Amino acid sequence: MAKQAKLTIEKDFQISKIDKRIYGSFIEHLGRAVYGGIWQPGHPTADEDGFRRDVLDLVRELQVPIVRYPGGNFVSNFYWEDSVGPVEDRPKRLELAWRSTEPNYIGINEFAKWAKKADTQIMQAVNLGTRGIEAACNLLEYCNHPSGTKYSDLRVKHGVKDPHNIKVWCLGNEMDGPWQTGHKTADEYGHLADETAKAMKQIDPSIELVLCGSSSTGMPTFPEWENTALSWAYDSVDYISLHQYYGNRFNDTANFLAQSDDMDHFIRTVISTCDFVKAKKRAKKNINLSFDEWNVWFHADATDADTMKNRPWQIAPHLLEDHYDFEDALLVGLMLITLMKHSDRVKMACMAQLVNVIAPIMTEENGPAWCQTIYYPLLHASKYGRGIAPQPVLTSTKHDTIDFTDVTDVESIAVWNDEKDEVTVFAVNRSLTDDIVLDLDLRSFGDYRLAEHIVLENPDMKAVNTAEHSAVTPKLHTDRTEKDGNFYKANLTTTSWNVLRFVK
Ligand code: AHR
Repeated sequence: MAKQAKLTIEKDFQISKIDKRIYGSFIEHLGRAVYGGIWQPGHPTADEDGFRRDVLDLVRELQVPIVRYPGGNFVSNFYWEDSVGPVEDRPKRLELAWRSTEPNYIGINEFAKWAKKADTQIMQAVNLGTRGIEAACNLLEYCNHPSGTKYSDLRVKHGVKDPHNIKVWCLGNEMDGPWQTGHKTADEYGHLADETAKAMKQIDPSIELVLCGSSSTGMPTFPEWENTALSWAYDSVDYISLHQYYGNRFNDTANFLAQSDDMDHFIRTVISTCDFVKAKKRAKKNINLSFDEWNVWFHADATDADTMKNRPWQIAPHLLEDHYDFEDALLVGLMLITLMKHSDRVKMACMAQLVNVIAPIMTEENGPAWCQTIYYPLLHASKYGRGIAPQPVLTSTKHDTIDFTDVTDVESIAVWNDEKDEVTVFAVNRSLTDDIVLDLDLRSFGDYRLAEHIVLENPDMKAVNTAEHSAVTPKLHTDRTEKDGNFYKANLTTTSWNVLRFVK
């Protein structure tokens, strides 16, 4: 008999309305993300501003609500003034994080133009590595103040009359990491972030600020970093960031697919730490979470180390061009489910990154843009994961892996789009051996019918897509579900990503 799992959801028992910004992304001045990625004048699809239309089409398809910019490690040695004004006057700079040359052909004004075309918002990071309060305030004045002051008038002089009105700002990047230019202790950072936040909110009280949390659960300072930094800046910030990347370094697929449990533990620990500081401070507001870097990242590690060591200071070198396989798409699906499960506190998240650099979208210099395997779970979550997340009551058989115990074979969550009157169930079967029948109890929602069952599956965990051939693409299946009153039974094949869409 096939293994079974069961998901029950109740209309009135809700985690939260999902903030659509959890389907955000990230563009860093790194490798070919900007140059040769979103921007390639001369490419047959380039528009009047040099932006690749084929890339824009794929980004728009993803309905990306927010894009973090311009880094990442890049931001900690970024001189924003070099990236504005007449392009011919902009200097080339040594880019320390990735040992590249930054030509400054694209800066904040051009990126804002791209963001408008991509129908997305910007999450802007400021440099708290080599710089501080003054540079952050000047950049905010340049971007958000209407006119009549030094930096707002400079923007107008640069041809941008209306302010960019950027709402979300990150106070530096991964300041806990020794690799970060201008790395700081938690006390040094917490103090600087608090002072910067207070000054920035004087300029524009409508902005939302993100404090740097830990760069991964593996950091020796996690979670004391969060405690210390928040103890300084609790009152002046709105979110704390989390970053996490996973990899299948030992080719152990079961263990690899269990790593979303670590992400879950990470989120729970950060929520507890925020609430501990809230209690210490007798504060009223909550600090919410911005999981503003997450993905699989390990495939290109060795070639990247070689490029940076032996061929430094190139403009837009091939860096972090991880070629994703089918099992990576499964883990990405599991990570998306984990984010949705915590939608009461995780209000923003950015898959890192968007184009060419650990990315769902790749470009060929003299050819098309194409979708990696990980594009599809993100597409489905962003398209169908909007609305309310009912509290999932999930029972599933379990297994152990080398690093994790009690790993559920099935991970699942449902999202109720109350505006469209649709319920979408996302489910991953991460059992390497068994198909599993998922019983769905949707009774409280009334009479819904299955509109489609989308499945991403492949017998080869290492199957990849290329510019020429897509081995891993979603397929529609009509023969894997049975209706029994308001109960459904869905057959989830071994190692598969499933999207079951129910409509009235
Ligand atoms: O996304 C790639 C890099 O990962 C970012 O620059 C940095 O913040 C993180 O370590």
